[in-house]
Amino acid sequence: MELRIDRQAMVPVVQQIVDALACWLRRGEVPPGTRLPSVRQIARINLLSQSSVAEACERLVAQGVLASRHGAGFIVAMPALAAQGQQDCRWFEGAEVKQGGTSGELKLGCGGLPESWRETDDLSYAIRQVSRTDMAGLFNYSTPLGLPALRQQIHKRLKHMDIVVEESRILTTAGASQGLDLIVRTLFKPGDCVVVENPGYSLLFDLLRLHGVSMIEVPRTPRGPDIEVLEALLVKYRPSGIFINSFYHNPTGSSLAPAVAQRVLQLAKTYGLLVIEDDVYADFHSGPGTRLAALGIDDNVIYVGSYSKTLSSSLRVGFVVAGAGVISRLAEVKMISSMGASRFCESVLASLLASGAYRKLVQRQRQRLSNDREAALQVLEDAEWEVFGKPVGGLFIWARSRRSDYAQVRKQAQRFGVLLSSATAFSPTAEASDWQRINVAYACDPRARAFFQATARDRPQAF
Ligand SMILES: Cc1ncc(COP(=O)(O)O)c(C=O)c1O
Repeated sequence: MELRIDRQAMVPVVQQIVDALACWLRRGEVPPGTRLPSVRQIARINLLSQSSVAEACERLVAQGVLASRHGAGFIVAMPALAAQGQQDCRWFEGAEVKQGGTSGELKLGCGGLPESWRETDDLSYAIRQVSRTDMAGLFNYSTPLGLPALRQQIHKRLKHMDIVVEESRILTTAGASQGLDLIVRTLFKPGDCVVVENPGYSLLFDLLRLHGVSMIEVPRTPRGPDIEVLEALLVKYRPSGIFINSFYHNPTGSSLAPAVAQRVLQLAKTYGLLVIEDDVYADFHSGPGTRLAALGIDDNVIYVGSYSKTLSSSLRVGFVVAGAGVISRLAEVKMISSMGASRFCESVLASLLASGAYRKLVQRQRQRLSNDREAALQVLEDAEWEVFGKPVGGLFIWARSRRSDYAQVRKQAQRFGVLLSSATAFSPTAEASDWQRINVAYACDPRARAFFQATARDRPQAF
């Protein structure tokens, strides 16, 4: 059993063994009850330490993928694996539902950082601090706008990004998702029409559909939304809002160019358009940059931020910045629907921001992402993939194989235990595309490299 462990990879060896074993179990259709080769054998064949292999097997036992029998080593417990796939059918927004997923597959198309990248020390310390010293943080409701100590910190960060507002115009939310939900349900009504980018964030499309808001699509270019198409849409359909990702757009990784941002704001003024700037990947960029909110935040521009991508998606802390009237309406709906955000999570985040631990964390993440992005772009070039606008930061590269169509690429991905984003997820109308969202943090894994290399060997379709 060859596991192909890469000792140079950032992913810890034990995690690589876990992933490789789970992947082998799925691919080989090993029947339940099958005995695994002994820990000693697996370690010897793969030049690994027995303790690493044993630890990986124990983790798979904890996940229900293997069972441990006294004196008989490890046994495949496949039903548990299948059940796990059914339970958690979507591993990430944009994943193919029917592909399911196990812990063993490499989530190349996913929207967040791998667990192995997450740092626990500072976060655990802040959690302990709040639980030991902040009784209100542990037990009380938060205030309608959110914890003042946190909003103060967010205010400082916004200033660094040239977004100048009063603190009273910052509202904390349970992730950017709650921010978007409050905006859609409070400021739009069923039958309204808004502009969304194509490709774009799939859960936003679902949210708009849920609230009966219809979508018209503007193509996303490497510099932002296509301005000529946007103007034509505004003239023709008179939509009431537009949703835009400014930095490191999901899924293309592209960012707004200054001239495009200026023009969007001019058009918004002319056509009375509400602009919602969703900037959840903001902290993967340091310092100022082109943001719509920095060019003037008033009642026509709403800014949405989040700490999910950098610190923790589990804490669920995000925020909305808008004009005074909009903020008070959103705060009212937030209180009616959820009694406010989690004070505990807000306190933990405020403590990490105040101590500087968060700032250092994102510096490390940016450096690591920058290294991996360079390497990933090289792998893609070697495999002759076409890359959309070569991103300079953030999590994503949007790319497609020049040699194979989606079906062929997907087949290769399955062979190597790689989970792709679905062909239709990033289109507002679920139109299929050959383009793939590639998460930089997963792209240098040996399985991803092997997958890309294999697509380069695929022959082009004969006509
Ligand atoms: C563009 C975009 N907006 C919003 C969100 C939701 O973020 P949160 O986890 O803060 O709710 C995501 C998450 O993937 C996203 O990609």
